[in-house]
Amino acid sequence: MRTVKVPLANRSYPIHIAAGLIAALGKHCARLKLGQRCAVISDSTVARHYSKPALASLKAAGFAPVFIGQPAGEQAKTLKNVQACYNQLAKHRIERGSFIVALGGGIVGDMAGFVAATYLRGIDFVQVPTTLLAQVDSSVGGKVGVNLPAGKNLVGAFHQPKLVLCDLDTLRTLPEREFRAGLAEVIKYGIIYDAKLFARLERELPKLLKQHPATLTAVIACCCQIKAEVVGQDEKETGLRAILNFGHTLGHGLEAISKYGKYLHGEAISIGQVTAAKISQAQIGLSAKDTARITTLFENAGLPTRVKLTPAQTRRLFTAIQLDKKVTAGQINFVLAKKIGQVITGQKVSPASIRQSLNPHPSSLN
Ligand code: NAD
Ligand code: GLY
Repeated sequence: MRTVKVPLANRSYPIHIAAGLIAALGKHCARLKLGQRCAVISDSTVARHYSKPALASLKAAGFAPVFIGQPAGEQAKTLKNVQACYNQLAKHRIERGSFIVALGGGIVGDMAGFVAATYLRGIDFVQVPTTLLAQVDSSVGGKVGVNLPAGKNLVGAFHQPKLVLCDLDTLRTLPEREFRAGLAEVIKYGIIYDAKLFARLERELPKLLKQHPATLTAVIACCCQIKAEVVGQDEKETGLRAILNFGHTLGHGLEAISKYGKYLHGEAISIGQVTAAKISQAQIGLSAKDTARITTLFENAGLPTRVKLTPAQTRRLFTAIQLDKKVTAGQINFVLAKKIGQVITGQKVSPASIRQSLNPHPSSLN
């Protein structure tokens, strides 16, 4: 088992990475001295595969778990479903000393984490991420929240989990499209922080796509280590943590204008990152070679890198971007890449420059 620590003083927590960890969920929770009652929140798809072993493991360790189900998909990441969870928690008499287990991908993790952050003014929670994206990114760092029709993650909180358990076995049931979407966040770490990781991904992408155990473990641990280092230095995103948003301003805008239905999050930020690389080349001198390497790696991972928007869609995209959390005083702030492995934050980018870098492509949002 690989373990990465998120260093946050008395709120530090471990991320364990190994196969078979759901069977050990109860044992790991028991070490944390949490209350006896708990609620496992999951979506219908994940629950079909993993709720039974998770609940059994908790019971075997002496906990009294209840199960709360949610619909699957980005469209379910809403305040309405958060309220449904609150009602279930109240019905099952979940108390201040109780805890929540978020069992699922980033959507379950973000939403269940937000429920944990706000129910009874905050209770403990444990992340059991079951998608690649959630294992390398969303389960770590304490950003939790839900979407509004106006934009992604516009309601949320910082609430750190007590523990993250990345069970590599769960990735075997993940649809291939979802696994590839997770690679968009993996590649992001290479671009923003670690040129060696980027080169390794270029070399070992076929092994990673086949979920070769040693490669998968090493890459997930590397991503978690980077996220832990960044969050450990800047938990509330007052500076460094903003590097994690590379490609996200545009990506979130694309998700919002397609009503969270066309692109998976990873796909939208793939287009966002390639566009950000092109803007970086035009604006701060990212080399043409690095732009090409970035584009090729996303393409080889089977991810979309371009989008063709009608003028009306482009207008809606800019309206959505203006609502992004990264906009200050109406200025669009981008993370741009100087070279692979190094980015700079707070770069002002004009709508004209974004428009120029969004390439025409046969697919459309309609
Ligand atoms: P997701 O949670 O929707 O999971 C993807 C799909 O796969 C769902 O249909 C789910 O039911 C299914 N699934 C999950 N695990 C499975 C498994 N093991 N086997 C079979 N099916 C499985 O999506 P995601 O890509 O994990 O997360 C995307 C969300 O994460 C977005 O809302 C994004 O905004 C958020 N996010 C948050 C952070 C953060 O720091 N909090 C970071 C990145 C992304
Ligand atoms: N995924 C961005 C962050 O955690 O800050």
